[in-house]
Amino acid sequence: MTLKQRWTPDGLPWGDLRRELVADSEELFYMVSTASFIETTSDLYTRNLVQHFAANPEVSQWLQYSWEPEELNHGRALREYTERAWPDFDWETQYAKFFTDYSALCKPEMLLPLRSLELVSRCVVEMGTASYYTALHHASAEPVLAQLTRNIYEDEVRHYKYFYKYFRQYRDIENTSRTQVLGALWHRLKVFEDEDTYLSLKHVYSTRHPDQVYDKAVYKELIGRIRKLVGRHVPHEMSINMLLKPLDMAPLARRMVQPVMQGVARLMVA
Ligand SMILES: [Fe+2]
Ligand SMILES: [Fe+2]
Repeated sequence: MTLKQRWTPDGLPWGDLRRELVADSEELFYMVSTASFIETTSDLYTRNLVQHFAANPEVSQWLQYSWEPEELNHGRALREYTERAWPDFDWETQYAKFFTDYSALCKPEMLLPLRSLELVSRCVVEMGTASYYTALHHASAEPVLAQLTRNIYEDEVRHYKYFYKYFRQYRDIENTSRTQVLGALWHRLKVFEDEDTYLSLKHVYSTRHPDQVYDKAVYKELIGRIRKLVGRHVPHEMSINMLLKPLDMAPLARRMVQPVMQGVARLMVA
């Protein structure tokens, strides 16, 4: 019962793709291909999440019939872009390697036991992806990539709004404290940095530099290069607002927390 998709990869103007604008950019290659890996793997996480919310048909149906198909749609479109822009990259083979590593980490136990906290951590992920694709959109001079990333970030912002709405419902039911919410925000920001990005970059980096060892130092260097390319396009204000919104704080308290979270968000998305 998948709901009608707002857009599909088939509807993109692939014939307008100007390869010469992206083909030589290793950073863009890393950004688009790693995103295609993570989005394509969304169903692994959704399965766990749908189970977690089995008692709530509104949430579980939205996850299953809207959210998951849209995330997979992102994966398909980004994969197609990767394969058209960088045709020497063997997507299938590298994805299989990534999947083996990543699926070992993606277990139901990873979910936070309090529903409200799991939902708030999903808000962090959607904030991160919305910021990432917004930055990529503004950094891209290539028209098909610009359109594709706009389509995606609009979806991610909408996803955030849903998770935020459900988070508020569960926060009231579970009486979740602000300290717990802050803890969940922090936890998710760390996972983001440590696992998803690190692993996905590993399997695309190896295709460009087969003789080099991939480790934390290489990872840091790659992140630095990506920041250099898109850092100034990161929508900081939007990211911070999305990050702090679930804390529902008075303006003064918000002003106190803001610099800390700003620093963390900057590390993550810029
Ligand atoms: Fe997505
Ligand atoms: Fe999303």
